[in-house]
Amino acid sequence: MFIKKQPSWALPRSCVTPERIFLNRRKFMSGAVAGAAGLAMPGLLSAAALPVQGESLSYVPAPGLSTSEEKTPYEDVIRYNNFYEFGTGKDDPAKYANEMSVDPWSIAVEGECDRPGTYALEDILKPHDYEERIYRLRCVEAWSMVIPWVGVSLADVLKRFEPNSRAKYVYFETLHDPEQMRAQRSLFSTIDWPYQEGLRMDEAMNELAFLAVGLYGKTIPKQNGAPIRLVIPWKYGFKSIKSIVKIRFQEERPKTTWEMIAPREYGFYANVNPEVDHPRWSQKRERRLPSGLLSPNWIETEKFNGYGDQVAHLYKGMDLQKFY
Ligand code: MTE
Repeated sequence: MFIKKQPSWALPRSCVTPERIFLNRRKFMSGAVAGAAGLAMPGLLSAAALPVQGESLSYVPAPGLSTSEEKTPYEDVIRYNNFYEFGTGKDDPAKYANEMSVDPWSIAVEGECDRPGTYALEDILKPHDYEERIYRLRCVEAWSMVIPWVGVSLADVLKRFEPNSRAKYVYFETLHDPEQMRAQRSLFSTIDWPYQEGLRMDEAMNELAFLAVGLYGKTIPKQNGAPIRLVIPWKYGFKSIKSIVKIRFQEERPKTTWEMIAPREYGFYANVNPEVDHPRWSQKRERRLPSGLLSPNWIETEKFNGYGDQVAHLYKGMDLQKFY
């Protein structure tokens, strides 16, 4: 483990169809990826299709959970990104994420559950219908967007792995492959790869917690976390981990990437909260993108990013100044 200094760029530069469309399958999964019984039917393991990059998805809207605020234009959503595996510049992910291959893709499921195993992504997605959820995304760097995601409820997916009573937290990990992710082979990187995140089980089971495989009706672009990423709309954006390859149920609270880098600045909970400033900047307002020098488009930040009705009960009795 190397000693980490506060990096100069530390998030600061300011930060149905009942039937899913099964798209052309370009590759059949080899037997290398084993699905556990119940999740993957033996013999069907290779049959489902993983959506091809850029293709349209079929989904149902989830109006009750979606905001009617104006959506951030597609071009901004896919060109202004944080994905440090490809560099620290906002335009680096759009430039370099194409160097990552996302098909085939599998996720290792470990820890306190009755159905651990390594599952092909299509087997994880197969039983679920896609929904569209239009959520606000508030970055800890004080910019925000409104994004129409397409995906599945996190709780619905996690339940199928049958977490046991010792599963108090769920841990997520991003792909670690320096050959495909150029910043992971950089000598100057201050992140101890892979990127890691986690949630308390009750947070993960909340109806808002989402696994996105698409946005604006199409498969999710690589810079936004293809082929599958978390979207936790009431928390700062860094909790919404991209390009997930591992899920682990565990009893103890997981260490998370930003907490490890700068624990006084980035906490495990990371709930959006205008009453708790970042040590180096205010969290009272945010720039709603697109924004420019002449029209910065500042708006007031809302507690829990405006999702208090759905999530405030999760933190009852907790001192949110302490558990930031
Ligand atoms: N996931 C990984 N693996 N690596 C990252 O650098 N950045 C996070 C989060 N997920 C990040 C990540 C941060 S800080 C934010 S704000 C959001 O992704 C940005 O998502 P977007 O680029 O799709 O807007």
